[in-house]
Amino acid sequence: MCGIMGYVGPQQAGPILIDGLKRLEYRGYDSAGIAVSNGDIRVMKAQGKIANLEALVDGDQPTGNVGIGHTRWATHGAPTDANAHPHTDPSGEFVVVHNGIIENFQDIKTELAELGAEFASDTDTELLAHLVAREYDGDLVEAVRRTVALSEGAYAMVVMSTREPETIVAVRKISPLVVGLGDGETYLASDIPAVLHHTRDFLIIEDDEMVIVTSEGATVETIDGDSVERDAIHIDWDAGQAEKGGYEHFMLKEIHEQPDVITETLGGRISEDGSVWLEDVAFDDAYIAGLDRVWITACGTAFHAGLIGQEIFRRVLRLPANVEYAHELRYADPIIGPRELMIAISQSGETADTLAAARVAPDHGSRMLAITNVVGSTLSRYADDVLYTRAGPEISVASTKAYMAMLIAQYLLALRLGAARGTVNEQQAQAVAHGLHRLPAAIEEVLGNEDEAIAAAAAITDADDVYFIGRGLDYAIAMEGSLKLKEISYLHSEAMPAGELKHGTLALITEGVPVVVILTQRDVYDKTISAIQEVKARGGRILAVAYDTDEEIDTYADLVMRIPDMDDLLAPVAAVVPLQLLAYHVARLRGHDIDQPRNLAKSVTVE
Ligand code: F6R
Repeated sequence: MCGIMGYVGPQQAGPILIDGLKRLEYRGYDSAGIAVSNGDIRVMKAQGKIANLEALVDGDQPTGNVGIGHTRWATHGAPTDANAHPHTDPSGEFVVVHNGIIENFQDIKTELAELGAEFASDTDTELLAHLVAREYDGDLVEAVRRTVALSEGAYAMVVMSTREPETIVAVRKISPLVVGLGDGETYLASDIPAVLHHTRDFLIIEDDEMVIVTSEGATVETIDGDSVERDAIHIDWDAGQAEKGGYEHFMLKEIHEQPDVITETLGGRISEDGSVWLEDVAFDDAYIAGLDRVWITACGTAFHAGLIGQEIFRRVLRLPANVEYAHELRYADPIIGPRELMIAISQSGETADTLAAARVAPDHGSRMLAITNVVGSTLSRYADDVLYTRAGPEISVASTKAYMAMLIAQYLLALRLGAARGTVNEQQAQAVAHGLHRLPAAIEEVLGNEDEAIAAAAAITDADDVYFIGRGLDYAIAMEGSLKLKEISYLHSEAMPAGELKHGTLALITEGVPVVVILTQRDVYDKTISAIQEVKARGGRILAVAYDTDEEIDTYADLVMRIPDMDDLLAPVAAVVPLQLLAYHVARLRGHDIDQPRNLAKSVTVE
């Protein structure tokens, strides 16, 4: 999960590469580097954030019109200058950047070492540079092809050489790679936003393809050498969407974008009467009527969105629904029948575990529907049906608006499936549609209560541990609230069903320990109040998320974060927002790097 850049054209490559790397920094930021060619290749790299690389090249820009760059998230070797990409062969004539893992790294290293090779780094990438140099006999493309044949794993690699100085050769095996087509100049990148300010026309490189890039454009081939006709796609995203827009952090901006994200994700897909039309979902009513089960698979925040989906599908469709962690499901040998629908949820559409789990479905003859935010992502291309979330580019590593859009997508899907199965009648569909259309305004209202989250943040910022509890849909929200807090505030927290507390964790509740309670599910309200009383009896502090009509909670809670009263089924959409704000403000009080939390990266493309 690193970021890759490449440039060939009339301009100086160095500044273009560094600018692109900054836009890719969310993919990894423990070191960065560039290699620029003007016939000779100059490599410059630095440990740490891209600012360190910028400082290094300041006043000493490498000159040349061809170059490759990389921002790293370490998998092989510590994040040091030596391990930063690009890597060269010993002659310095072949230079490589790479994203992903070479699984037979040790075998290749042993073989090269036996032939007398010495290595300047601990990385698997350096081995690729050695191999390309060894395999080169006058044709860079063929040398790369032979190197790929020797290298197992999921990766993208980009190669440049003094021998063919006007060309960059890149390969995609799972890890994402796009080509941006300019006028007399061509860009390579791990994803579209990195070069969107230069061009809006892109070639998406598929798995097991190579691309040969020159200033005149790009030629796509399969790894086996067959030529590939690939049409460019035109991207309409607003480049300004990827900027901070006046907020202190991308995360806060993205939290505040959520009303718009709901509107976008619903747009043109649901009418006032609740009928739903999903443009890239091809299955028909007969298929839906024959369904026996719904599976959902995802990781992290997307998994938490799946927890909500599981509950919604069960309630709305009266069908068995299971959400499974993708990294578990892929090895679980699950029993999936052909009349079962697999839904894979992934913001990036590139999460390696989710891609692998999603592929379990076709192996069992069942259909796979992707819910993803990235058009043209690998998951979207694996899928039989796609439901795009339309959240726009999410820059903050901690996911907020993409999660929100995943919830909305699942409500739409549940309505579509429910209508076809006859489990949702017209009146119910209309009521849900009405509720969904009101959500943007409801979320604006919650955002207007940000002071409550700020007060709650001040109350827990010095805590050692925080617990999150809730029942049913509230438990799913507790899971997401807890994850958000952990990942950006580094404060230990744990989420559990409210009823589970007394089965062990209650032993940890002592004077002053904060417990965040979500109370939107009226059918289990009193049960959750019992859990609150257990906490209060041990001196714990209660921070509640509750409807603004709920007066009873004032009796129990030390602090309440309010959301507008609404249908309990839709309440997760509102209830998550104060918890996102809570996590944000705790992290801010603690002075953390909110958009790029330590040890994490935006897109987890390795297993
Ligand atoms: C947390 C977060 C991660 C991702 C997870 C899956 O804020 O962003 O937990 O949700 O890595 O990523 P995607 O959705 O891209 O598959």
